[in-house]
Amino acid sequence: MAPLNSKGPLAGALAGNPDGFAAAKAAGSRIVMVTAYDTWSARLLAESPVDCILVGDSAMMVVHGEKDTLGATPELMAMHTRAVSRGAPGKFIVTDMPFLAARKGEAHALDCAALLLRSGAHAVKIEGAQGHTHVIRHLVESGIPVMGHLGLTPQWVRNLGGFKVQARDAAAAGQLREDASALEQAGAFALVLECIPRGLASEVTSALRIPTIGIGAGAGCDGQVLVFHDLLGLREGTAPKFVRQYADLTAVAVTAVTSWAADVRGGTFPSEAETYHLPPGH
Ligand code: KIV
Repeated sequence: MAPLNSKGPLAGALAGNPDGFAAAKAAGSRIVMVTAYDTWSARLLAESPVDCILVGDSAMMVVHGEKDTLGATPELMAMHTRAVSRGAPGKFIVTDMPFLAARKGEAHALDCAALLLRSGAHAVKIEGAQGHTHVIRHLVESGIPVMGHLGLTPQWVRNLGGFKVQARDAAAAGQLREDASALEQAGAFALVLECIPRGLASEVTSALRIPTIGIGAGAGCDGQVLVFHDLLGLREGTAPKFVRQYADLTAVAVTAVTSWAADVRGGTFPSEAETYHLPPGH
């Protein structure tokens, strides 16, 4: 089966419609999702065969330099969504509902989701399940496709004691299985599983009709997601073990800017060809 991207046969189905995700799982076609936060990264992804773009609230950490995602607001997520939508109009775009947006009742969640969909998202992603599955059901029944997210849910970082592998004991694993099933029943069309043991992720994947998309959850998921900047080496420090880096754009960028600085200091930039002149006769 061809991939779910805008160039494939499911492009029509994915133009604002998440049904292609279930179809991909049924056909055994792995779903490929990557984050983007701005028009340029979205343009690059539009040129690639990825199926789906996630405007993640990881933007707070990756492009705004914060230590967690809690500072994201509906307005900020809407701004990033508009930028991504301009760069990749043919891709299926999922945007994160920011911190607490699903915890203030159905009306508040609807307003936030409406803002994100009007900004160009085709679906929203909501972290966690307990205490807000009724909100997820209400959004779905209101025509808003919802992707779930369990395991390491960064909006709960203060409760989780940091960015750590989750569901390692039997009780937590049992809770995750229950939450996954509750999300499917509430109408979620797909589920991100972040940083959980591979065996648990595979088990949940087999138990659900909706596809799972893993990050740090092993190869048994129905798809994988990575942060664009991690994939391309635009990060500092040691990457988590689930990151595979395919390029070193940090080195490319630093080398390019260093060359330009040397040309400026050496007086070889700008050249005559890079300079405007008055028209002849002035
Ligand atoms: O915000 C994000 O980038 C995410 C992914 C890591 C799944 O939620």
